[in-house]
Amino acid sequence: MSVDFEDFREDERILGMERRKEDAEEAGLRPTRWAEYFGQERAKENLRVFIEAAAQRKEALDHVLLYGPPGLGKTTMAGIIAAELGVSIRITSGPAIEKPGDLAAILTNLAERDVLFIDEIHRLNRAVEEILYPAMEDFALDIIIGKGPSARSIRLDLPKFTLIGATTRAGLLTSPLRDRFGIVNRLELYSPEDLRRILVRDAAILRIGIDDEALSRISARSRGTPRIAIRLLKRMRDFAQVRGSGTIDEAVVRVGLAALDIDDKGLDRVDRRLLEGMATTFGGGPVGLDTLAAVTGEDPVTIEDVYEPYLMQLGFLAKTPRGRVLTRVGWEHLGLPVPEDADRRLKGGNGDARQVRLDLDGRTEGTGGAAGEAR
Ligand SMILES: Nc1ncnc2c1ncn2[C@@H]1O[C@H](COP(=O)(O)OP(=O)(O)OP(=O)(O)O)[C@@H](O)[C@H]1O
Ligand SMILES: [Mg+2]
Repeated sequence: MSVDFEDFREDERILGMERRKEDAEEAGLRPTRWAEYFGQERAKENLRVFIEAAAQRKEALDHVLLYGPPGLGKTTMAGIIAAELGVSIRITSGPAIEKPGDLAAILTNLAERDVLFIDEIHRLNRAVEEILYPAMEDFALDIIIGKGPSARSIRLDLPKFTLIGATTRAGLLTSPLRDRFGIVNRLELYSPEDLRRILVRDAAILRIGIDDEALSRISARSRGTPRIAIRLLKRMRDFAQVRGSGTIDEAVVRVGLAALDIDDKGLDRVDRRLLEGMATTFGGGPVGLDTLAAVTGEDPVTIEDVYEPYLMQLGFLAKTPRGRVLTRVGWEHLGLPVPEDADRRLKGGNGDARQVRLDLDGRTEGTGGAAGEAR
């Protein structure tokens, strides 16, 4: 059977960051306190201060925007914030709120200082978003009663609540919405050390035996993403059970990762295909996102949100004003000869394209393209 690229869509990849059915067990692993939420130190430190300050003033916490690639712990963090505030959390998502009336119903049912969590907040429709503005700013709802010339608007007071918005696509948020968040946190890919802590905790909860070397190997191959680390842990448990002694050790991980076609940097066929496409079809770039998408058959949004952050963290791929460029280490990872001008291609135009593009970064203490920082 020929294996077509189409067989490896994002929703089927073992290394895909998006949530899937098989991740259901995640819920039981979801940390409920800061002590169990590893990594994201800066976001955590800041939130701790803001939460304590709000509690001392007996006020609702300011609205919080959490953004970053899928599976990095946005939903988890929202739950912890509510728990730390000692309030209830009401969970919904952008596409689930169809009409202004749906949002009005949710808002009027909140208690004072409650958290409203809106996942995929970039997918709110315009009409809904507009009633969210006064709700966030003045804790009020403007409702129109009647039709035509006799219509009048009345203002309804709402409890002082905290909105936590989560998105993988901060760039798609309208600026009036974005500006109404007092606290903006970008979640970053995790270091292998943090993933290791997460795995140790999760293996204990799931009663999975795993040794040190296996922990290191899985942590280093999980694309900086807890969701993927958990998924790999569970798959390795299967290999250990069927092929090994029941404990996940180095040999199990080696066999398991090879069977899943995951290489020593944690790249799978889709990543390699993307890099190879850049190398062979475009001579290493620069190549535009849409062109790359067309050639590899992947969705541009998926490339940008899911593949690129990790490839950039590894330093295999860089963004320049003229497009994506395969870097020296990228060429080397593919085992291909590095073109002479590989380094020169990284400098096109002035400055770092990432910083221009990720317009929200300035608000998170200006780390620039943190996803691209090597750790
Ligand atoms: N910092 C962390 N410490 C420990 N476990 C974590 C951490 N972050 C995430 N996890 C684990 O990873 C799983 C996925 O995280 P979560 O669902 O919060 O991600 P998300 O950013 O909301 O993803 P999506 O964008 O798909 O909604 C959680 O169920 C949890 O078990
Ligand atoms: Mg989520």
